[in-house]
Amino acid sequence: MKNIYNLAEEVIEKASKLILQNHKKIRKISYKTGDSNLVTNVDKEAEALIIKEIISRYPEHSIIAEESGLRKRNPKHQWFIDPIDGTTNFAHSYPFFCTSIAYAENGIVQFGLIKDPIAGDLYTAKRNKGAKLNGRKISVSKTKTLRESLLITGFPYDKKTSRLNNLKNFCNLTLATRGVRRDGAAALDLCFIASGKADGYWELKLSPWDVAAGVLILEEAGGKITDFKGQKYNIFDNQIIATNGFIHKELLKHLK
Ligand code: IPD
Ligand code: CA
Ligand code: CA
Repeated sequence: MKNIYNLAEEVIEKASKLILQNHKKIRKISYKTGDSNLVTNVDKEAEALIIKEIISRYPEHSIIAEESGLRKRNPKHQWFIDPIDGTTNFAHSYPFFCTSIAYAENGIVQFGLIKDPIAGDLYTAKRNKGAKLNGRKISVSKTKTLRESLLITGFPYDKKTSRLNNLKNFCNLTLATRGVRRDGAAALDLCFIASGKADGYWELKLSPWDVAAGVLILEEAGGKITDFKGQKYNIFDNQIIATNGFIHKELLKHLK
């Protein structure tokens, strides 16, 4: 496991360097679905770099990556890759995006890494070994009530056409808390909860590559994660509530 983790750390730094070099440069933007689901050439290049490095060392490993889909091999070893989480931000040179890489064995995520190239921050977690930011242990905030909380959320790509677009929740919780932020990178949002920069997060319709690393980082930092019913969460669910634990019940009551 140590060698696999070291490879992940090496490769996320390489991808981060590539992304940073291309930040603010003219880049090719295309639409995947609708008019807000974007992809740039840099997403694709960063993903290709990560996958190439992984399969050159572990050709039998399976990979689920946002831009190239599923590479089905031995299901015992599974990687989840989001080369740029926060592509819309990246495409606009808005400095909030990251790379997210997680590795699972027999379906259980063993470690996760999330790199914010702008801040130069690397969030990591190994199962049962705690969560770290740049090598130092992190933990969730101690905020006890929703009224005193700062929350983060996001909106799905089908927000213009679906009734499940999170807008009502956003309005209600804006009034029930100190504020709700929409930063635009789910993986980094989870790291912000894990490191106590905000107290709770919820979102709908995410994909496993958005959350696989961040969920482990948050759990290892002492946070709590469920679906909107308060039931056990898994990374293929399409509703997530992630908090410092203290405000979880209160937040659940507000979400529909
Ligand atoms: C998106 C971001 C965003 C969230 C979207 C995600 P992408 O990922 O995490 O914050 O609201 O639902 O799909 O497309 O930038 O990798
Ligand atoms: Ca993403
Ligand atoms: Ca992405």
